[in-house]
Amino acid sequence: MNRRRFLRVGASVLGAGALASVAGPSVARLLAEGRPGQLLGSELDLPEAFRAALPVPAVLQPVRTDATGDYYEITQQVARLEILPGVRTEAWTYGGGFPGPTVVTRSGRTAVVKHRNELPVPSVTHLHGGHTPADSDGYPVDLLLPVGSSADAAQQAGGTAGMAGMAGMAGMAGMSGADHAAARTVVGERSYTYPGRQRAATLWYHDHRMGFTGPGVWRGLAGFHLVHDEEEDALPLPRGGRDLPLMITDRSFAADGSFRYPAVDPELAEPGVTDAYANGVLGDVILVNGAPWPRLDVDRVRYRLRLLNASNARLYRLELDPQPVGGDALVQIGSDGGLLAAPVRHDGIEIAPAERFDVVVDFSRYEPGTRVRLVNRFGSGRTAEVMRFDVTAKQVTDDATVPDRLAAVEALDASAAVATRDFAFRRSRGDGWTINGRPYKPGDSIATPALGTVELWRFSTDLHHPVHVHLDHFQVIGRNGADPGPYDAGWKDTVDLRPAEAVEVLVRFTDYAGAYMLHCHNLEHEDMAMMADFTVR
Ligand code: C2O
Ligand code: CU
Repeated sequence: MNRRRFLRVGASVLGAGALASVAGPSVARLLAEGRPGQLLGSELDLPEAFRAALPVPAVLQPVRTDATGDYYEITQQVARLEILPGVRTEAWTYGGGFPGPTVVTRSGRTAVVKHRNELPVPSVTHLHGGHTPADSDGYPVDLLLPVGSSADAAQQAGGTAGMAGMAGMAGMAGMSGADHAAARTVVGERSYTYPGRQRAATLWYHDHRMGFTGPGVWRGLAGFHLVHDEEEDALPLPRGGRDLPLMITDRSFAADGSFRYPAVDPELAEPGVTDAYANGVLGDVILVNGAPWPRLDVDRVRYRLRLLNASNARLYRLELDPQPVGGDALVQIGSDGGLLAAPVRHDGIEIAPAERFDVVVDFSRYEPGTRVRLVNRFGSGRTAEVMRFDVTAKQVTDDATVPDRLAAVEALDASAAVATRDFAFRRSRGDGWTINGRPYKPGDSIATPALGTVELWRFSTDLHHPVHVHLDHFQVIGRNGADPGPYDAGWKDTVDLRPAEAVEVLVRFTDYAGAYMLHCHNLEHEDMAMMADFTVR
């Protein structure tokens, strides 16, 4: 949609009053398609692109394994990383690196990940896309307090009094008595149990602390979690070193090398960002797997690239430049929830925060020596570049292909939906970002779907919001009253809505009862209350 039509649609759906309340004088900026958020510039000189080698995060080895499960341990710790050459950046990390280690698990096996918190702040770990029992899902007030926190602090975090007195607790003030039963606070270590009742998929884990997910992820709390299964194993897809997870993030750096972030309170006792950044924080450095604009030598064979947009607010339109002759460079084989039924070919992929696109790129379509840039058509200047693939002249054989049929994907049936629910993602005067006019309050459930049923959920937006549902993946069945869009295929857990859009999805609630979240995955919106609980019964 071009910009003019886009603004007209926006204005007619929202009405002049809504526009005035959301955006004041900067309507045009807020509505600029593909560009929610505000650029925060770095205060030091940025390195030249394509100098750093692409890092690939190490695979985490289990500390123990038994007949049914694998046991992992991750220490959350402060680390001084060299992200920009010659510059030290203090990061909050899983295990000392950014991204954290990649957890690789098998469908049907339980994975137990024990996290130890040596950070200066409480944490909450959520497996994004995980089909997870509620007590391990990373509910935003199920805090893991730092090692050595007093029992008193834990007591206070679980009660009403004194929370605002402890750094990072302010967001919890105002919970009512009944809500505290849901808040499961522990000190030092916590084990998250992932039963593995889900298909092969590219998942990721990240901090999900109430009110502070934006700064937590920005400072480095994110990693991959890959699930494999037999259906995937049986396919002739690229593997090993030709199966690459690519975590794309944008960041800004302060003059002293630290991550720059416009928190209202630099000590992070109060959540939120300064007004100018209320629609999202955009960095001016693009990192892939934690390295600025990296490069990678690739052979003239097929590679599987697991694209993850782990940025707080930035949207990308990813393309290869040059395009191979004949186009369709990006052959999508998977989405958030695993393999598609059949591949979908794209020249470019629009990827919103938290979305994953599994694509296969055949570099034999390029001449040896070609430098193929992965570019971001939604960016400008430095943010229009992502990374570069340098095609080698090596003689290699490619035993991988992309079959026409990938996986059995059951299509959910809209007529089976037992309920239809509407969720309006809007900015409300005085309340910040809301869902159905309500700012987030833990324990305050907005929907109570029953286990085993299918529901039709309809999301609508004022501005740009990537909507994420915990627990179960969903299928997009309509967008603005028409068919789903080109990026909606397969099982999804995050769906991108542009301004004034409405998307219909079918969700089937399976396996686990309890309180879960749905929320906007623009992390500044999320931290400023654009979340809601739903309770599966
Ligand atoms: Cu990726 Cu509720 O989050
Ligand atoms: Cu949003």
